[in-house]
Amino acid sequence: MHYRCATCGATAPVETQEARCVCGGLWQLDFTPPAFDLGLVDQDVWSLFRYRAFLPVIGDAWRQVTLGEGMTPLVSLNEDVLLKMDYYMPTLSFKDRGAAVLVAHMKAIGVKRAVQDSSGNAGNSVAAYCGRCGIACDIYVPEGTSPGKIAMIEAHGATAHVVPGSRDHCADVCRAQVEREGCYYANHVYNPFFYQGTKTYLYEVYEQLGRIPEHLFIPLGNGTLFLGVVLALEELLNAGCIDHFPKVIAIQSERCDPFVRAVAAGSADPAPVTPTPTMAEGIAIGVPMRGREILSAIYRYGMDVVTAPEDRILEARSYLARRGIYCEHTTAANLAAYWHYCDLHGKTPDSLLTMCGAGLKSDH
Ligand SMILES: Cc1ncc(COP(=O)(O)O)c(C=O)c1O
Ligand SMILES: [Zn+2]
Repeated sequence: MHYRCATCGATAPVETQEARCVCGGLWQLDFTPPAFDLGLVDQDVWSLFRYRAFLPVIGDAWRQVTLGEGMTPLVSLNEDVLLKMDYYMPTLSFKDRGAAVLVAHMKAIGVKRAVQDSSGNAGNSVAAYCGRCGIACDIYVPEGTSPGKIAMIEAHGATAHVVPGSRDHCADVCRAQVEREGCYYANHVYNPFFYQGTKTYLYEVYEQLGRIPEHLFIPLGNGTLFLGVVLALEELLNAGCIDHFPKVIAIQSERCDPFVRAVAAGSADPAPVTPTPTMAEGIAIGVPMRGREILSAIYRYGMDVVTAPEDRILEARSYLARRGIYCEHTTAANLAAYWHYCDLHGKTPDSLLTMCGAGLKSDH
């Protein structure tokens, strides 16, 4: 197992502290798990580490890191829609899947100090797992980040740095610290281990249902869940657990839709966009770093990309809340997008949506 640069093909050991290749390319993980087989799932472990036979987990460090993440239920919304309740997580979002596996890797290779930039859930999650296993942690957040999220980061023992200016500038300031001080960059977009965690989303669905639904609706900002889902589907297909690729429908904000525009133009790169404020802030990523990789999966597997109509997000949030499901606005956007997809393509049965962020996380 090693890293390979997506741009120039150079390799590096997974113990490296370099956030990316010297050429500037992002790392991919060269790792081939055994063929997926429910018989290899550790039935005595009640967290996503039950799948560690298929994860790049080194040694036993994960035992000090896990907070019992994963194992989230499937709940029926109606005859056509199943909801995967990924906000039932230690820090209330699906990012715990990625952070648990990433921080377990950091612990295994002896990382003592980490930095991360995030406007929301990923920062909360990395702070929690670093606190859990004694890794010092600095989290950079852009100004305007909700006080609740900053309080949560600090409560876990991390230092929160509020950076004036945009989300992109915040990431630049954070990366400058990585370069200046040689800290480990525990970033959900750069670090390939994060995607190895998010792929367990579909392992669980497969274990729960014994199959994969025909329509998978996946939010798409930087693509941490999206790319994890692609990895899992490829593995399940190669193992013969499924006999075809289901329809993946990626969800963007209508106010920040670089992938929708790229697909409309047949482009290999995300389209330049000027984002305007949206309630679906979690998917409002104007310049997704792994954009080419994501688009190549979209074209390879004939995926659809759909927008969440802004004027239906509150309606979707209240529709869910009235049924006992209190999710954040970005997550309600998944249902708004599903409705929109049904308006465009007709009734869409056997659909899986993710309820991936909790309602208390967002305030509008
Ligand atoms: C609740 C929620 N949904 C969806 C996303 C989108 O994830 P990604 O940007 O990795 O595609 C995020 C990211 O922060 C999120 O917090
Ligand atoms: Zn390179």
